Amino acid sequence: PRRTRIPHLHAFKESGRRWAMLTAYDTYTAEIFDEAGIPVLLVGDSAANNVYGYENTLPVTVEELLPLVKAVVRGARSALVVADLPFGSYQTGPEQALGTAFRFLKEGGAHAVKLEGGARFAPQVEALTGSGIPVMAHLGFTPQSEHALGGFRVQGRGSAGDQLVADALAMQAAGAFAVVLEMVPAEVAKRVTAELAIPTIGIGAGPDCDAQVLVWSDMAGMNRGRKPRFVKQYADLGATLLDAARRFDADVRGGHYPADEHSYT
Ligand code: KIV
Ligand code: NA
Repeated sequence: PRRTRIPHLHAFKESGRRWAMLTAYDTYTAEIFDEAGIPVLLVGDSAANNVYGYENTLPVTVEELLPLVKAVVRGARSALVVADLPFGSYQTGPEQALGTAFRFLKEGGAHAVKLEGGARFAPQVEALTGSGIPVMAHLGFTPQSEHALGGFRVQGRGSAGDQLVADALAMQAAGAFAVVLEMVPAEVAKRVTAELAIPTIGIGAGPDCDAQVLVWSDMAGMNRGRKPRFVKQYADLGATLLDAARRFDADVRGGHYPADEHSYT
């Protein structure tokens, strides 16, 4: 299959075709999601929690994310691979954003980058897109601003809805090719989706976005902790893996593994 490219995503919006995005952090998951036909894979800074075991996304670094981007790019034959810019790697200004994004494209092999924030980050988005780097924006609940936002809360309720629409329009005007909407009221996401020419990608943003994204470990039950309301779990890989590990352990302790068929004469 052909590589998914940004014009395909824009054509999907024009024709009303919905599409899915998943996070991926390694080659095997990237291969599987690619084979499933997921057109866009995000190497999210959610790797902070889901790979590295941090409490939130703030501590994860470019150095920690780059190897994951490389691994996902190697596994993704058709999917467009988006690399998340981590906290502190683009906020100080366009120059910093460019420096970080160049690394994800040159060293990581990513096809696009994502950053959190609205109109205030238009200079970063303009600098990146002006240098040939496609940018996905991320609005609503932006986990890198968890402390400023007062924790995990729905964003854009009431009069904040107008601000969210304005931020989305500012990102589009700055050249973003898509906008993630995280934890915003369904009605607000619907409004943003109608007003933008570029696709919206919802996560906890109701049914009217052009696309939907989930963190793969939430979607597949690898994350066995508390899950937010917006997560739908499609598999219980955590339970499957726990059972496999227990049976392997029991086989080894009981002398049932390896058997003759696993041994060399
Ligand atoms: O890091 C991430 O996984 C994300 C998605 C939830 C959009 O930013
Ligand atoms: Na992220």
